Order: sequence, then structure tokens, then C-alpha cells
Amino acid sequence: MSSYQDSDSLPPRSKVGLAGFSNPGLELGEGECERAGMEDKMEGFHLDSTTGASAGQAESQKRRGLAVRFRGVEVEIQGRQILRDVAGTVLPGELLALMGPSGSGKTTLLSVLTGRIQAKSGQVTLGGRPLTKNLRRMLCYVMQQDIFFPNLTVKDTLMCQAHLRLPDSVTFAEKDKIISVLVEELGIKKCLNTIVGNDFVRGVSGGERKRVNIACELLTDPSVMLLDEPTSGLDSSTSHSLIATLKHYAVKHQKTIISSIHQPSSLIFHMFDKLLLMSDGEMCPLYNGDSPPVISASDLQVAYYGQASRIVDFFADLGMPCTAHENPADYMLDKVKESPEVRQDIVDYSNEFRISSVECPLLSKDETDPHLQSMAGELSEVKIAGTDGEGAGAELEEVESPQWASSFWMQLRTLTARNFKQQRPQILSLINVMKTLVTSIIPGLIWFQVPREEDQVKARAGMVLSELPLAIPQLLVHITISFWLTGLNGAGAYFADMGIIALSTFTAEALGLLISVVFLRIDQTMAFSTSVIVLTVLLGGFYIQKLPFWLVWLRYLAIILFSFHATLQLEFTDDTSFRCAIQSFSPHCAAAHLNNPNETAYIPAQEILDQFIIPLPVWGNILVLVLYRRVVTQKRAGVAVMVCWAVAFIVGFIPMLGWNNLEKINSTDLLVTCQFENVISMDYMVYFNFFGWVLPPLVLMLLIYTEIFCMIHKQLTKKVSASASDPSRYYNKELRLAKSLALVLFLFAVSWLPLHILNCVTLFCPSCKKPMVLTYIAIFLSHANSAVNPIIYAFRIKKFRTAFLTIWRQYFCCKKTPDLEDNLQNEKTDHQEVQNAV
Ligand SMILES: Nc1ncnc2c1ncn2[C@@H]1O[C@H](COP(=O)(O)OP(=O)(O)O)[C@@H](O)[C@H]1O
Ligand SMILES: [Mg+2]
Repeated sequence: MSSYQDSDSLPPRSKVGLAGFSNPGLELGEGECERAGMEDKMEGFHLDSTTGASAGQAESQKRRGLAVRFRGVEVEIQGRQILRDVAGTVLPGELLALMGPSGSGKTTLLSVLTGRIQAKSGQVTLGGRPLTKNLRRMLCYVMQQDIFFPNLTVKDTLMCQAHLRLPDSVTFAEKDKIISVLVEELGIKKCLNTIVGNDFVRGVSGGERKRVNIACELLTDPSVMLLDEPTSGLDSSTSHSLIATLKHYAVKHQKTIISSIHQPSSLIFHMFDKLLLMSDGEMCPLYNGDSPPVISASDLQVAYYGQASRIVDFFADLGMPCTAHENPADYMLDKVKESPEVRQDIVDYSNEFRISSVECPLLSKDETDPHLQSMAGELSEVKIAGTDGEGAGAELEEVESPQWASSFWMQLRTLTARNFKQQRPQILSLINVMKTLVTSIIPGLIWFQVPREEDQVKARAGMVLSELPLAIPQLLVHITISFWLTGLNGAGAYFADMGIIALSTFTAEALGLLISVVFLRIDQTMAFSTSVIVLTVLLGGFYIQKLPFWLVWLRYLAIILFSFHATLQLEFTDDTSFRCAIQSFSPHCAAAHLNNPNETAYIPAQEILDQFIIPLPVWGNILVLVLYRRVVTQKRAGVAVMVCWAVAFIVGFIPMLGWNNLEKINSTDLLVTCQFENVISMDYMVYFNFFGWVLPPLVLMLLIYTEIFCMIHKQLTKKVSASASDPSRYYNKELRLAKSLALVLFLFAVSWLPLHILNCVTLFCPSCKKPMVLTYIAIFLSHANSAVNPIIYAFRIKKFRTAFLTIWRQYFCCKKTPDLEDNLQNEKTDHQEVQNAV
């Protein structure tokens, strides 16, 4: 039965029925009404609805679908209207296709329906209830990208997901049964033992990977499934079989499925029950912040809502007939993209139906329209009737469910096993084994059986420090080899060190995660991590023991300090182990030597530890490591970021705090010898400044840039698919920016390295002659560096150049130039275009 036949208010030119615009209750055939009946609806509540799955979830016990209704959905991001009065209804057993040109807002709508982003206005109901946190658990969302651990098999992946998402009360055998049923249904049984893989590691095919993704989501037996372009990147037959599987699943289990889809074949297109065609937002006026955009009916976004099979009639009726040999999906996409006039015709015609529609009502025209209000009343009646998956949400909503389905221990066990499986190939790779052996044996040989003498205390401490940053699996091999080769403090210390180093590794990993969460962008994370690493190593207690009193607190930011101190405390325990040096720093040794020069004296362990200034007892240091994750919160990490920049600033002032040659200079000839080399300590300039603060970041930046260039090069040489927008539009711009920054880095290196190299010569070869002219050139270069950067920016960055030239002409040449604002505005539009294209 067609909707326009049921409604008095339909426009006269409507010759075809758009079933989707009609009252959903009238849409259901007799059999369908039975399926959507109360009896079936309650079936879902036999399940444990707090968990999303039943124990022994059999076919017949699957939770039934819930009706999804959305209307008047408006979304605005950064002042730009993305969705405008979008509406629709999907019932259990139905498959709704979301179609539209790229950028028309399909993903955004899916995000609103899943509650991931908040709409500015509008209403989304699930089973007749507004979308709450609890109800969101009835939904699943299959994102466009399949994100997996590539080294895990399909079976492992699904089992991990089952352990994490299903409650512990579901036994292993039951989880196994659920997985078997799902893989059978999704047709991935044959690849259960194949690894998932990714672009670099060969694994299951693209279609199979998508099915695995869907299977992961279906483990919890959701009522509603939302998928974002599940067929993108798949060939046509794989796409067809995937959508056929989804359709079969929706009908068989009466699930509600909404999927965005890009350019489906006509075979695929006809499998969809309903279609929501969205036009793109080109006609949407840009909101400039001064005056709100005026949205006329033709600016709205729904170009068609209704039965997918009626789309051909819809366009024919509009005077745009689709010929028999054309794919209706391609045809309508071309039409909505054709020209603003055609688009307006389509949206206008669609709106004529929406005025009288319950499923896709037009809200933005006039909220107070009595006709619309009666429509809203009609909608609530449908909800109360509860014959189509409506109303079911009420009961589900009331059930309070725990935040996590599985227990902490189950999560810990599963994640540990998953990480191990994922890392196994790397851990056992030849290069890694070699690396572990080399980094264990070489330090072991360098400090082979370090004599237990006062002179060797620093070497022993150095050995302890080098163990800290290694990952746990290599830890055992590394510590076992290096500990015994160097002859550290016996079996007790060996096991205790192992525990402390493991703790320190966990803490470092937690810190790494925290930094990545705070920054979100990989380049910023890398830049900040470098500062943290340098700071941690410097302040970790080995290189610098004494800091000015007002900077002492800084060392507590270095997590390595605590494990270093704890391991030192475990190493230096025995008062009679370490022989005094002839020139001892220890008062005890000096006294013993004075009393009896021929007898071997031993330095008290405490005096050694005092050299390292260890404020906490061994258990205190361990406690800090254990509590670190709780203590370092996001906010505190933010403060730490600020502190790090401040420290970087302070480092430049260190010579003024005492690390200089002032003591060596005769106060009488101060004026005569006041040259840089005489005044500044070369120890500071070479070890601290050059080796500590200049060289490591430079090398790291070099590595980062190499990686960035490789990545951009890879993207640019990628074959451009017909559907994707040209990557060169975006990546050429990125490449140019990266080149500018690399140039800045290169000039920095060229400008500063000569001076640092000359400093090294002064320190390591005091008798070597350095031509004065070289020194002057090096000094000139270092000063020129600061002057060069603005010139590079001016020549390589258009925005900078435009502003620079405009100011130059206006103020120095007294010429009238186009408004600076205009120029910048044009730049902004260019940038926006590139972003839109992407
Ligand atoms: N976080 C965001 N910030 C700014 N614009 C966004 C954001 N997310 C999406 N958009 C914009 O919203 C529009 C719709 O995006 P999207 O929903 O991803 O489109 P589709 O999935 O139909 O291709 C695009 O023009 C996009 O640039
Ligand atoms: Mg999208």
C-alpha cells in the first residue's frame, strides 16, 4: 500500500507512492505484523540484558531489534552546519542505506545515532526511548576502518573480544559456541586460524577482515547495527556477498541495520529496504559568526527518504527518468551532485512528501504547524502500540548495567595474552634476539666482574642504570647475562632488581601512554617525549647528583630516579665489600688509611649511597613506582609539560648558576681574558649542552623527518582509486610544509654544528691550534641562524609571504595594497577547499 494513497494532504503531482513516508504501522504486511508482535519483542528479555548476551546464546534466543527513529537532527561543527533537519525511521528486520556524495554527512549522522557526537537539536529514539547510556549498549557500530592486532588469528581476535565484552559468567565453552555460530553465519569459518594481518603483514582478505570486524560487534548480540561504508575497498562480488549476509542476518534475527554505502552496484542497491539519500552541503551558507545562516527548505539535506525500490519512480515523476541500463544508485548520486538547481528540485520534491510523513517529518519549516503536531501525536501512538520494536527500550533502559562487562582480572589476563601474541613475532625475531644479546653481553664485557673497589663505584652504578628501559620479555635474558657477567650483588639482588626493573618498565609505559593521550598528535608526542627522555636521563641520579636547592624538586619528575636508587640500595649493602681507594672521598677510609696505611680498608656502603643523595628508603622508591599511575594524572601531566619547557629555558642559564670557569680566572686579569672559551666551562658546553641537549634531539628529529618523508612519499606514489579524492592535493601541501621544517632543521644543524665541533676540539685536544677565522665563522653562523628562519618562512610559506609583502609595500613603499584581511581570507578558502577535498 502506498503512502500517498493513505494521506489526504499529498501533493497532486505525486503519481508514485513512497512507502517509507507513510505510517510505519500501515507499512507492515500481515506476516510482518506477526513477526513484530509483542511476543517476539519480549523474547529479548529472556537474555541477560545487562551484559548483552545470554549464556548459551542460541539462535532462537537472540535479542530482537529495536526501532530507530531520528528527526530534526541538526549538527554543527566549528560553526559549520553539517546536518540539517535529517529524519528517518528503521524498523527491526529492515536494512536502511545511507547514501550521498562524499562529505554529505553520512558518518556524522551515524555518529549522532550511536551517541558519539551530540546533535545541536533533534531527537533520536531507540525502541521509543531517547538514547541513553544504557540503551547505547544495544547498538553496535562498525567503523569504516578495521582496526585489529595484525598478528592475532581470527579465532584469537574473536576470543579476546568475547572475553572482554561478555561477562565472566559466560563460560569458555559458551563463548566458543557463540563464536562458532557467528563465524558460520558470517562465512569466515575457513579462515579462523589465519592471522588477521594488515597492509604490511599478509593475512585474511579485505572482505574477511570486514566480516571479522562485524563478528566482533555481533558478539554482544546488539539490537541495532550501524555500519559506516562496510563495502569500501572491497570488490563488487565481495561487497555483494557481505550485504547479502547482513540482509539475511537482519531478516532472520529481526535486527535493525543502518549502513552508509558508497556507489553500490544495482544488485546491492536492491537489497536495501529503505534509502535515505542525503545531498551535500554546498548550498549551505557558511556561518560567519555574525548572523545565523538563513536556511530555506531547499537548503535541507534529505533528497529522498523511502523504499529503495521506489527511487526510480521518484526521479521519473520528477521529470528526470533513469534509463533501464543505468544503475539507479549511480544515477541518483550524479543527480544530487549535478547542479544547485537540480538539487533544489530534488530536495523540494522530497520535502513535499516529508510534510505529511510520520517516518521522515519535516520539522524545520514550522515547528508550530498543527499538521506536524498531529503527526507527532501519531508517532507517539505508534510508540505506545509497541508493535514495531518501539517501547521495548523502556524496559531495557531501566536495567542498570556495570561499566565493564568483564572483571578486572579477566581483562588483565586477556590483554596480557593478546599483547604477548601480538608481540611474539617481534620478540622472537632474529634482529631482536641479536639486539638483546648484544646489549647484554657488550656492557657485561665492558664492566666484566667489576672489582669491588671504591674507584669502580661509578662503573657499578652505570651498569645498574643501563638495565632500566628494556621491555619485560627481553628483561630476563638481558639481566641474567649482564648481571652475572658484571658480578653484581648476588642472587637476592638479582631477583629484586628484576622486580624493580619490571615495575619501572610498566611505569615508563604508563607515562608513554599518558603523554600520547595528552597530546593526541604523533609529532607533538614525539617532540615532548624527547624532552622527557633527556630530562629523565639527566635528572635520573647518575649524571647529576647535586642540583641547586631550588631545582631539587625537578629530579622527582624523573621516574628512572626511583628505580635507580632502589637498585643502588640493593647493590651497596655490604660494608666490607668495597676496598677504599688511595685518594678516597670517604672520611672513614681516610681515617683508616692514616691509622694503618698497610691494612686494606673497606668503605661503608652507606657512604657510597650518600654520594648519590638518596632521600627515600628502598621500599619508598618501590612504592613510588607502584603508585606512579595514580599520582600522575592528566592534569598533573599538563603541569609537567609546562615545567619541561621552563626547564629547557633554565638549562641555558646553568653556567650562571655555577657551572663555569669563574674559579679558574684570576680576578686581576678578568677583563683581559673575558672570552667565551675562558669563561664558560667546556665540560658544560660539550657534555651537557652538545651531547645532552643538542645532539640527541637533532638525531631524533632527523629520524622523525626521514619517517615523515617516507610516509608522504608512500602516499603520493599510491595508486589513486576512482572513488578516492586525489591524495596529491593534500599530501603535496604536507610535503611542502615538511620540506620547510626540514630546511629549518638543516640550517640549524649547519649553523650550530661548527661551533659545537670547535668546542669538542677545545675540550678533547687542548693543545690543538684552531685558526681564529674558523672560530669567527662558527660564531657568525650561530648568530645568523636566528636571522635566517624568518626568511625561510617568508619564502616557503605563502601566508607568511603575503602578509610580509603587504606590510612591506604598505609601510615602506607607501603603496596601497589589497587588504591584508582579504588576502588571508583567500588563503583560508584555499585551505578549506583542500580540507573538503580530503
Ligand atoms: N571534526 C570535524 N571538524 C570539522 N569538520 C568536520 C568534522 N567532522 C566532519 N566534518 C565535516 O562534515 C562534513 C561531513 O562529514 P562526514 O560525515 O564524514 O561525510 P561523509 O561520511 O558523508 O563523507 C564534511 O564536510 C567534513 O569536512
Ligand atoms: Mg564517511
